[in-house]
Amino acid sequence: MKLAIKKNFWKNKKVFVTGHTGFKGSWLCIFLSQLGAEVTGYALKPATKPSLYNLANIKKLIKKSIIADVRNSKKLYSEIKKSKATILFHLAAQPLVRYSYENPKETFDTNFTGTLNILESIRKLNKIKSSIIITTDKVYDKDLMKIFQETDNLLGHDPYAASKVCAEHVFFSYIYSFFKNSKNQKLATVRAGNVIGGGDYSEDRLLPDIFRYIKKNKKIILRNPKSVRPWQHVLEPLSGYILLAEKLYNKKLTSLEPHWNFAPNISSCKSVKYVADFYSKKLKVQIKIAKSKTNEFKPENRFLRLSNFKARKYLNWHPRWNLNKSLKKILEWNINTKKGNHLKVCKSQIEDYLK
Ligand SMILES: NC(=O)c1ccc[n+]([C@@H]2O[C@H](COP(=O)([O-])OP(=O)(O)OC[C@H]3O[C@@H](n4cnc5c(N)ncnc54)[C@H](O)[C@@H]3O)[C@@H](O)[C@H]2O)c1
Repeated sequence: MKLAIKKNFWKNKKVFVTGHTGFKGSWLCIFLSQLGAEVTGYALKPATKPSLYNLANIKKLIKKSIIADVRNSKKLYSEIKKSKATILFHLAAQPLVRYSYENPKETFDTNFTGTLNILESIRKLNKIKSSIIITTDKVYDKDLMKIFQETDNLLGHDPYAASKVCAEHVFFSYIYSFFKNSKNQKLATVRAGNVIGGGDYSEDRLLPDIFRYIKKNKKIILRNPKSVRPWQHVLEPLSGYILLAEKLYNKKLTSLEPHWNFAPNISSCKSVKYVADFYSKKLKVQIKIAKSKTNEFKPENRFLRLSNFKARKYLNWHPRWNLNKSLKKILEWNINTKKGNHLKVCKSQIEDYLK
């Protein structure tokens, strides 16, 4: 089934993306540019070396790249205004759980205050018709151990999850107080799974860790082999965000609650060990299970699964690449970018995805 994204809609649309120097943000810039949109990006400089942002030369690809902080409300407002954007994607965040234990204040400042600053800018700028605020699957109360629906309770245990729950709450209060009756401005929060894809070089994420281990030690070391995660290729949630932004702009779906899961099918929710085994077999490397340093940090919950029923029903969005296909695509990405050509390889994966 073809994805319902309309290329005609996106041609020359002015789009503001925060977090464009990050993993998902870089892919989003490539995706939107391929659809013909004019993208302005706003983020700190890339946090990793290498970064997809630099490898794919995103700065050159998009209309304008602004290196600045979402905590700076004046700068943020003035840049959104200058961009004349009518659609906004807010991805900028401190997204790492382990880092959030070490730097809770920075995490809350960036994820909560950053979102508050975005909402305040949108409130003042009538021109922004459609806004997608990216939160996370970790906003749900993990102790419930169920397949989470958008209407389920939110509760963050670790500082990262809690900062994103705060972002959801401030979003709700802005919707309720300022945007509920707006005919012109539509907003949503979106919750994706554990996103994987070529070009992620972050610390403390399974796939980048696996590839770093293979490069260094020729052995994969795992911390939580039994944890089950909703793995999904980065193009899956991004296609959902884009589709939703388009529908909101066209004032569709206005009677529905403004929260959306873009999650893989339950059959793609597999253990950390499953993912490691895939690369262990393909690349002929061994796996070692690390002894966990108990009490260093609270262990992440072992099961995390989200329902994608709402997105299927109302957006006709559905996962296109299952876990094995996604893992294969990442390997392909790594092999095909060995000699450079990062942008070209990303573009060709997007084309393939959209077929
Ligand atoms: N990768 C995942 O598995 C996953 C899953 C669910 C949700 N998310 C969410 O998706 C979004 C993007 O995640 P990612 O994986 O691309 O992370 P990333 O670390 O690769 O990118 C984060 C981006 O945010 C920017 N940023 C951080 N602090 C900033 C600040 N103070 N001011 C301006 N920019 C700032 C960074 O510069 C970077 O561009 C985040 O909101 C994250 O919470 C990610």
